[in-house]
Amino acid sequence: MYNSKIAGIGYYVPENIVTNNHLSEYMDTTDEWVQERTGIKERRYADKHKESTTSMAVEASKIAIERAGIQKEDIDFIVFATLSPDYYFPGCGVLLQRELGIQKTEIGALDIRNQCSGFIYGLSVADQFIKTGMYKNILLVGAEKHSMGLDFTTEGRGVAVIFGDGAGAVVLQPTEDKNKGVLTTKLHSDGSKAEELALISPGAHGGYFHEDKSAFGFDESNEKFGDIFITDKMVENKWHTPYMNGQAVFKKAVQKFPEVILEALDEVGLKSTDINLLVPHQANLRISQFVQRMAGLEDHQVYNNIQKYGNTTAASIPIALCEAWEEGKVKENDLIVLAAFGSGFTWGSALIRW
Ligand code: COA
Repeated sequence: MYNSKIAGIGYYVPENIVTNNHLSEYMDTTDEWVQERTGIKERRYADKHKESTTSMAVEASKIAIERAGIQKEDIDFIVFATLSPDYYFPGCGVLLQRELGIQKTEIGALDIRNQCSGFIYGLSVADQFIKTGMYKNILLVGAEKHSMGLDFTTEGRGVAVIFGDGAGAVVLQPTEDKNKGVLTTKLHSDGSKAEELALISPGAHGGYFHEDKSAFGFDESNEKFGDIFITDKMVENKWHTPYMNGQAVFKKAVQKFPEVILEALDEVGLKSTDINLLVPHQANLRISQFVQRMAGLEDHQVYNNIQKYGNTTAASIPIALCEAWEEGKVKENDLIVLAAFGSGFTWGSALIRW
């Protein structure tokens, strides 16, 4: 059995900076409100027609591959975490394979649909493949293009101000050093609150989980054959944009983040005082600060960049980890803790000895 180490890391964010003041031109919000509640000052939005979730992933991947000192043809498996895929299907994993121009081998590609905890779920999956010796160079990516799917009216302001676009990538390789690399990963879910943070249409649910099927444009008494995947009513009621019960998410997040961090530390016999750097999913600066207090960590032990990029969901951890590494805040032998919570609800953590 091997351990998996991060051999290369990269990120990409679009050039276009969108400030809170810019958003206030489209919705009733203020820079003060957004900064006070979320810590976000600005976020990046992709060029609508010239950039996609996959194209941003390509840029991040190229950097990670180069830093790992390998060629794209050495990649033997792709894991792609996103909630904003370019297509409903096929997933972004195969698009990334194509756009990177990986031709030599018919490698495997897997998409992960675990939203904010997607990168940690992906890391855990990749770690298992590396441990068993099945793959030697796994490209793991988290990427999001939220800006195409938000409601930029006042009705959608509670969600729209939070999210941003970007991509982060790592190359995972095996190491025989048992004290290095991914020490453990912890994954959890609670589907009972699935609709509290969700984008539920278009989808194949047909109103199954909802009493009022007419809200989706379905008329059971006058059923027509076909024509149900996207209805006019879905668009009218904005079912194609995300819904979030912000307070419910907040309450559960501040409970589960510390829990899952301690669970991972306990398993390997470490304490929060052993942490060199916590890189939490950038959900909300207030959530990160709460987790920091609960874990008794100093400011220099927690990395936050939500101020610049907003919440980039599956991309937030690899972007933050890469920035921290580039700033010299991730050093050889450091204990790095990753933790995430989000839609599903799903949450998880990972301990890495760098
Ligand atoms: N600008 C101005 N006012 C806004 C606003 C915005 N962008 N968004 C919401 N409001 C208003 C609401 O309409 C509400 O007004 P009302 O009292 O007149 O009804 C008021 O602010 C309070 O709304 P509420 O949703 O209770 O605010 P909050 O303090 O819970 O903050 C979040 C909202 C979304 C910032 C907060 O709940 C949060 O961060 N939750 C976690 C979200 C998260 O992390 N999501 C990602 C999961 S990984």
